[in-house]
Amino acid sequence: MRKLTAGLFAAAAMMTATVATAAEPIVIKFSHVVAENTPKGQMANKFRDLVAERLGGKVTVEVYPSSQLYGDNKVLEAMLLGDVQIAAPSLSKFKKYTKKVQLFDLPFLFKNMEAAEKFQQSEAGQKLLGSMKRKGIVGLGYLHNGMKQISASKPLRVPADANGLKFRIMPSDVLSAQFEAVNAVPLKKPFSEVFTLLQTKAIDGQENTWSNIYSKKFFEVQEYITASDHGLLDYLVVTSAEFWDGLPDDIRAEVKKAMDESIAFGNKIAAEKDINDRKAIEESGRSTVIDLTDAERQQWVEAMKPVWAKFEGDVGKDLLDAAIAANN
Ligand code: LMR
Repeated sequence: MRKLTAGLFAAAAMMTATVATAAEPIVIKFSHVVAENTPKGQMANKFRDLVAERLGGKVTVEVYPSSQLYGDNKVLEAMLLGDVQIAAPSLSKFKKYTKKVQLFDLPFLFKNMEAAEKFQQSEAGQKLLGSMKRKGIVGLGYLHNGMKQISASKPLRVPADANGLKFRIMPSDVLSAQFEAVNAVPLKKPFSEVFTLLQTKAIDGQENTWSNIYSKKFFEVQEYITASDHGLLDYLVVTSAEFWDGLPDDIRAEVKKAMDESIAFGNKIAAEKDINDRKAIEESGRSTVIDLTDAERQQWVEAMKPVWAKFEGDVGKDLLDAAIAANN
């Protein structure tokens, strides 16, 4: 009898083991809108590879670039419904979930990427990662792309040159106010439509980083790019609280570690691409890059900076002051 019981136990243990090994891996769908040869594209692929290396069999990451699965206007909803587990929209795309993140869109807020990094890693910056928890969104970290430049079908040297022109913007009221401040017409449109809108001349210009202008070939359909460095385009890598909290502790820790390493990798690529993609655009001869004199740039600062006052209430003075302080 004892032998029989022991045998049954052994058989049961074997079955459990078989079930455990045959268990389906946890699938993480990571959806984004940019090309694979961008800081975000490279970061996502690195994350997929690190997870495969360290958690192969237990967790699988599937990356969907170039709006293949969802555009940025839908991805956060999809994430909250469990159709996607990770996304990394630009900081300009969270308005529905938090007003504080609008801070990052304020024109001429950070003098360079070092200042943006300093603020993001500060106590105030880190606290923002948890600011959407009540809405079911967890921030896993910031990822850099770079400073935005303005491309257009005509040369823009001073704000008056933008008068009456139509610019595509991301869905942000700050960016809307920024272009209205120079008497231009802002239009909120998904990233996936920008190339066609420019090519068909339905719009006159747009603002983006060197890597996005290069990888999505905007420079082939825009005669001029003003090197304005007037604003930041960075990302918030996010997941849903439901998914994140439901992961076993050991797996969550490994996934977070892989994410941190992938973000560091993506940030390095961002810094390289910022220089190299600008150079590639200049060398293509398809678009003329305009460098502003200090006096010309100052005119843009004076025209756009009053926008801050409109959003100070939404963002909070403490947060704004903390961001300004990161420039020192
Ligand atoms: C844009 O919509 O212009 C950018 O946010 C795209 C991106 O994700 O870099």
